[in-house]
Amino acid sequence: MVTPAPAELLANRLGRRPDVIARAPGRVNLIGEHTDYEGGLALPIAIDRETRVALARREDGRARAVSCQESGEVAFNPATPRRRGDWSDYVQGVVAALAERGIPVGGFDLAIASDVPPGAGLSSSAALQLAVATALDAAFGGGLDRVALARVAHAAERGFVGIACGILDPFASALGRSGHALRLDCASEATQYVSLPGARFRLLVAHSGVRRSLAENAYAERVAECRAARRAAATALGRPVARLRALAPGDLPELEAALEPGLLRRLRHVVTENARVDAMCGALRSGDLEAAGVVLREGQRSLRDDFEVSTAELDALCELGDAAAGVFGSRLTGAGFGGCTIHLVAPERAAAVAEVLAEGFALRFARRPPVWSVAAAEGAGVLPLPPTL
Ligand code: GLA
Repeated sequence: MVTPAPAELLANRLGRRPDVIARAPGRVNLIGEHTDYEGGLALPIAIDRETRVALARREDGRARAVSCQESGEVAFNPATPRRRGDWSDYVQGVVAALAERGIPVGGFDLAIASDVPPGAGLSSSAALQLAVATALDAAFGGGLDRVALARVAHAAERGFVGIACGILDPFASALGRSGHALRLDCASEATQYVSLPGARFRLLVAHSGVRRSLAENAYAERVAECRAARRAAATALGRPVARLRALAPGDLPELEAALEPGLLRRLRHVVTENARVDAMCGALRSGDLEAAGVVLREGQRSLRDDFEVSTAELDALCELGDAAAGVFGSRLTGAGFGGCTIHLVAPERAAAVAEVLAEGFALRFARRPPVWSVAAAEGAGVLPLPPTL
């Protein structure tokens, strides 16, 4: 439940009534990590934690925004969005991306409320950008569909905020479906829904408490290493490798002999991770949670040893999870370097496992990590206006 309601926030802090209310969820990625910017596969679910925005048009062409997570208000001119290095960039970036698509945004007041924890690697920024894009599109008659809105949010993050990320987060937030995971082909943008064996598992998310936002340089370094690995692979194989997605597990023996060990590890993670996405889809479709758990554990090993984006805290949470009765498998989710782990758990064991994770982590790191149970939710959309307004 997102509190305060964004309409209340808009009324209390900016004295306005909304014309539009929109929402967009955070996400966890079940498998398919660090594959999106190499045109690979991913399998996210949108989660039942979301950002809600309430928007009122203004006639004077000015824009103001407030957020339940920030004090004060930001003001800017939507006709000339400018990067400022503060949280208004997330809103201004969406305005700029809409303008690039020929959707002029007029004046507006905006209130933002969210229960997606910021900096936890659950895509709080994509949720914010998608919610803002959905509201602005509805308020200013853009008529964009969800895929177009996801592209707008992606353009805002890459082009305006300046993070070299792939399409995973905005597509998950835009296209999520209740009870389903989303198989996303990041080269073609093709999507398929994979039904989750809902009643037979719970998905726990544990927050390592290490903020993901501190790790932007490390993320950019991995993106660059993948690019270098791609070039080295093309030389070794004597054929073009446009994206690492073009490589199959069968190419690995030849590359193992030819590539420098560091680059080989990065490449091997991406190639095997793409294969794990389809292994996970198969396991979910046949309801084989044991097999799904094996894929999670293999994914974690690969992120830890080959891609080297895990941390002591994330490793500890996964080890605690995997040693607990009723856990099918665990791994870090998102970019790594901090953020959260996910744990696929038998429903009747969920509460006990949450306690095992929190207790075991506290013994080692002297603080209890938040542990949430999440469910697959619908992607971004417009909500009805509250009847009292
Ligand atoms: C972050 C990025 C995504 C993706 C993941 C890793 O969440 O924003 O584009 O690269 O990391 O899978």
